[in-house]
Amino acid sequence: MANTKSIHGEWSSRFAYILAATGSAVGLGNIWKFPYITGENGGGAFVLVYLACVVAIGIPIMIAETMMGRRGRQSPINTLATLSTEANANSNWHFLGWMGVIAGMLILSYYSVIAGWANAYVFKAIFGGFSADALEVKASFDEFIASPVKLVFWHTVFMIATMSVVMRGVKSGLEKAVQLLMPTLLFLLLLLVAYAMTTGEAYFKGLSFLFSPDFSEIDGDAVLTAMGHAFFTLGLGMGAIMVYGSYLPSGVSIAKTSLYIAGADTVVALLAGIAIFPLVFANGLEPGSGPGLIFQTLPIAFGNMTGGWLFGILFFVLLVFAALTSSISLIEPVVAWLVENKGYTRVKASIVSGTATWALGVSVALSFNVWSDFTIFGKTIFNFLDYLTANLMLPIGGFCIAVFAAWIMHEKHVKEELGLPEQQYAIWKFLASYVAPASVFLVFLHVVGVF
Ligand code: PHE
Repeated sequence: MANTKSIHGEWSSRFAYILAATGSAVGLGNIWKFPYITGENGGGAFVLVYLACVVAIGIPIMIAETMMGRRGRQSPINTLATLSTEANANSNWHFLGWMGVIAGMLILSYYSVIAGWANAYVFKAIFGGFSADALEVKASFDEFIASPVKLVFWHTVFMIATMSVVMRGVKSGLEKAVQLLMPTLLFLLLLLVAYAMTTGEAYFKGLSFLFSPDFSEIDGDAVLTAMGHAFFTLGLGMGAIMVYGSYLPSGVSIAKTSLYIAGADTVVALLAGIAIFPLVFANGLEPGSGPGLIFQTLPIAFGNMTGGWLFGILFFVLLVFAALTSSISLIEPVVAWLVENKGYTRVKASIVSGTATWALGVSVALSFNVWSDFTIFGKTIFNFLDYLTANLMLPIGGFCIAVFAAWIMHEKHVKEELGLPEQQYAIWKFLASYVAPASVFLVFLHVVGVF
């Protein structure tokens, strides 16, 4: 066994790890992104592809990534260096760690801007309450994102919050916050689902949009988006779950915990979809309205329901917290590396990496208003970074992780870390060696038009 403990500390229990890793998985991806990309990509068929990717690609790779983290016990870059030495493999594998570190910062730069929207909506909820009228709700959202000052301000607030949590390290604060947050978030989502049921016919329209697949609605790019989203929502392919795995006490079952985490993540996404699409149809909104979708729908529900003022505040507070428990995992890989290799304190490492990420995030905030005409490969800065990370970097990272775990590492070491009965091990091994990498590869070939 390499090291038995990370220098950065360790989760206090198996349960604490599950909460933290679920916190990393459940975030804006589930509540903000899943509904709007499902809306943009025609609904049911997209959802099915996404679910298939979670099962066939996501779960095996989550197991692989966590396993590598726990064995390496360091930041992803150094973990890959250590593990490739252990496997007598090429040391260039550590560049995979670098790609992850960079992907994490790129994702956080726009993640923080959107989390800032949620943060702003907490205050909108407190001071204005939400209007019950769909047009007013939309107008208020449009007015909000047209303001560069507001977007940059809330982005800054969120980045400061992220850095302050990360500075404190693995255990304090983080673990406790998540314990309270997850159950409350689930409760509020169920409440929104119950509200959605009151929309009558629209409720069934919403369900059928989500769950009756029409494959003529999706093309190669939609399949790529669904696959990329499976990585994004589970937090895979960039070292977040690897670094969390490095703080995992030995002896905890990686396969079992991965199943819980993926299950919880999927349930939250589906509930968000079930809550949102009935509102979309009941109010004559476009399912494909893009990143503003939840900000243009959920306020209507809060504006209409009894107690909506309080629930609206609570919901957006929880959304901010859900985003925070993900954002800290996005920046933890680079922070851990700065501490290990540059000798920085956690405080300094958080400030340096956070400031760089913040600066990039400012350009994302501006891409929604003053720089909306500036494009890279035909995409705004926000769309470009989202596509580059979620659709390309995470699947490529995940592909390499599967290959490393299944083909490069010594099987004896993998078995030792996973501790699975022979038959279950064989299933994982098959998925990680063949199914997951081949699926990623085929989707890429399809997108570039090879078949
Ligand atoms: N999984 C998070 C979400 O759904 C985002 C994330 C992506 C976190 C990649 C870590 C790594 O919001």
